[in-house]
Amino acid sequence: MNVAANIITLEVDWQNNVLRILDQTKLPGKESYLSLGTAEEIREAIYQLKVRGAPAIGVAAAYGIAVCARNIKGNDVAGFENEFCRLKTYLGSSRPTAVNLFTALDRMEACVKRYRTKEVEEIKAALIREAEQIHAEDQEACRRIGEWGLKLLKPGMGILTHCNAGKLAVSGCGTALAPIYAGQEKGYHFHVFADETRPLLQGARLTAFELQRSGIEVTLICDNMASVVMKQGKIQAVLVGCDRIAANGDVANKIGTSGVAVMAKYYGIPFYVLGPTSTIDFQSPTGDAITVEERAPEEVTEKWYVQRMAPEGVQVYNPAFDVTDHSLITAIITEKGIARPPFRETLNTLIACGS
Ligand code: MRU
Repeated sequence: MNVAANIITLEVDWQNNVLRILDQTKLPGKESYLSLGTAEEIREAIYQLKVRGAPAIGVAAAYGIAVCARNIKGNDVAGFENEFCRLKTYLGSSRPTAVNLFTALDRMEACVKRYRTKEVEEIKAALIREAEQIHAEDQEACRRIGEWGLKLLKPGMGILTHCNAGKLAVSGCGTALAPIYAGQEKGYHFHVFADETRPLLQGARLTAFELQRSGIEVTLICDNMASVVMKQGKIQAVLVGCDRIAANGDVANKIGTSGVAVMAKYYGIPFYVLGPTSTIDFQSPTGDAITVEERAPEEVTEKWYVQRMAPEGVQVYNPAFDVTDHSLITAIITEKGIARPPFRETLNTLIACGS
């Protein structure tokens, strides 16, 4: 039984035409939902990480643009398409690294184009179906990632994870955490170590919350403790999610991930990346082509603190993601199967013939 099933990350209410999201900035203290009905509200929620995690951003954008498109007035298809494209550009400007945002918005635009010979009302109905399809595919992908990933684990293992790539980051049972939930259903016991994940504390606020809620043993550590727990033999595998996978297997994920990968290599611990194939970006030949989001200095100096923890005016560098070199990655687990090095070949093979 997946006890975390009672966490609903996002859902849509077509009757009132709003996207409802669990406000993740309030976790773990408060479980409150926001109803978002305008493009401004939806963009702001994504930018502020009220809904976050690559797949969840994609689903939120798909539902979000469908909600906004339903508010477009008039029956003129050309006018509808113009406004739709404006909304797409606007929502796409919320966060630059997670490729799922752009994949989902591109799919929604392709849907508009497929129906452009029809009435505006029919296009709007098709957009609802497309967003629901994206959501359903995401849930199914997570389930399969869990099954594939579980093949790499043994009961009793200690598992380190970074950031949150669980149920809160997607619409299903997560990506990096999916094998842990799949194992739980079979009665396996895992001990998860969650990096707190500075500066926005997704590990402390979200991963620790959702695993504890799900009855999975979890120990929270500061980011700078990962090396110690590895050295002490407490970790047998590292599982992380991904925001974008380049064609050569370089992986963009939450800042700090690449450091964990370096340590895992040093200690001889397998480092697994888990994500849906929609996260693979063949347009990015290597990680160098991936745009890494930089965020406000206040996230480092004062956010989550009762009082400011750095001198006024100090220079701050706050990249939200880093790129883990493919040479540090043991395998990439997708819903279509497991890719091992050389990733440039195996990722292509997965896409071409994986089931
Ligand atoms: O800034 P965030 O919280 O959106 O970053 C999230 C991550 O880096 C996750 O690991 C990634 O999106 C994978 S989620 C399944």
